[in-house]
Amino acid sequence: MRVLSGVQPSGALHIGNYLGAIRQFVELQHEHDCYYFLADLHALTTVHDAARLRELVTDLATAFLALGLDPAKASLYRQSDVPEIPELTWYLSTATSMGLLQRCTSFKDKVAQGVVPSHGLFAYPVLMAADILIVRSNLVPVGRDQKQHLEVTRDIAASFHATYGREVFTLPEPLIRDEVAVVPGLDGQKMSKSYGNTIDLFGPEKEIRKRIMSMTTDSTPVEAPKPKEGNALYGLLKLLAPAEERGWVEKAFDEGGTGYGDMKKRLFAYYMASFGEARRRYEELRRNPAEVEAVLAAGLERARAIAVPLLDEVRAAVGIR
Ligand code: TRP
Repeated sequence: MRVLSGVQPSGALHIGNYLGAIRQFVELQHEHDCYYFLADLHALTTVHDAARLRELVTDLATAFLALGLDPAKASLYRQSDVPEIPELTWYLSTATSMGLLQRCTSFKDKVAQGVVPSHGLFAYPVLMAADILIVRSNLVPVGRDQKQHLEVTRDIAASFHATYGREVFTLPEPLIRDEVAVVPGLDGQKMSKSYGNTIDLFGPEKEIRKRIMSMTTDSTPVEAPKPKEGNALYGLLKLLAPAEERGWVEKAFDEGGTGYGDMKKRLFAYYMASFGEARRRYEELRRNPAEVEAVLAAGLERARAIAVPLLDEVRAAVGIR
């Protein structure tokens, strides 16, 4: 199966991004032909600072490698390096109805969050369809929030086929894993950059320790059992504790005798045990940006080997060239 997914370089990566997406991407590389890309064109809908965008793209590529993406198994590339993507986006646009895009909830959600309601934001799902269709992907691992975009991609492909009378695209299926946990943020809401409740993957260690140690907790006395329901500390401990420590976590909450301060120290220790190696690798790669660029160049070549002939077929179907 050909697998494709993209991540927007729109902010510092946090453990929610890893546990909710990147971990799965890395696992899939062992079974499938995987294409992953840095969605910098999509990020332009929210990032309007050139230096910042460049930095975010490099950081994200570095993070993919530090977190275990193996360039011998999976192809990693920058979306903006593939000129076939924006060209395909236009052809798809001509077969996409306004109504289809108006039904997309992510536009409204983002505008409600304060994102500028630009045409780019409105047309975001068409660009996403181009990302997916351009490499003829079969499976697209995404979070639940992207399910509608996958349906829209299939609708756009079908509508293109109907409009131009030729079946040029492979219809992709979403791969949505129910067991992928919703990672709670430091405040108990879903971990998200927009809520400012994240634990970064590669931020300074001191900062991360501080954020964990200053999580708000209730005033249950040390001796008393602690409530688990809706408790962000419990949710995070459960996600990050190694298997042999999970019993400790349950006991600490159920039996009492462990203060929240001690639990936070454990959480920080689990965090370092989970990500210490990736953090070291990240620092190493940052000192060697040429290695990261070489990976992107190789990934780009593999993606374009599929994209170029596909776009030729699309051009033929619409009558351009
Ligand atoms: N919209 C996705 C997100 O915000 C990122 C993305 C862009 C994507 N293009 C894609 C994901 C193509 C999967 C396939 O998470």
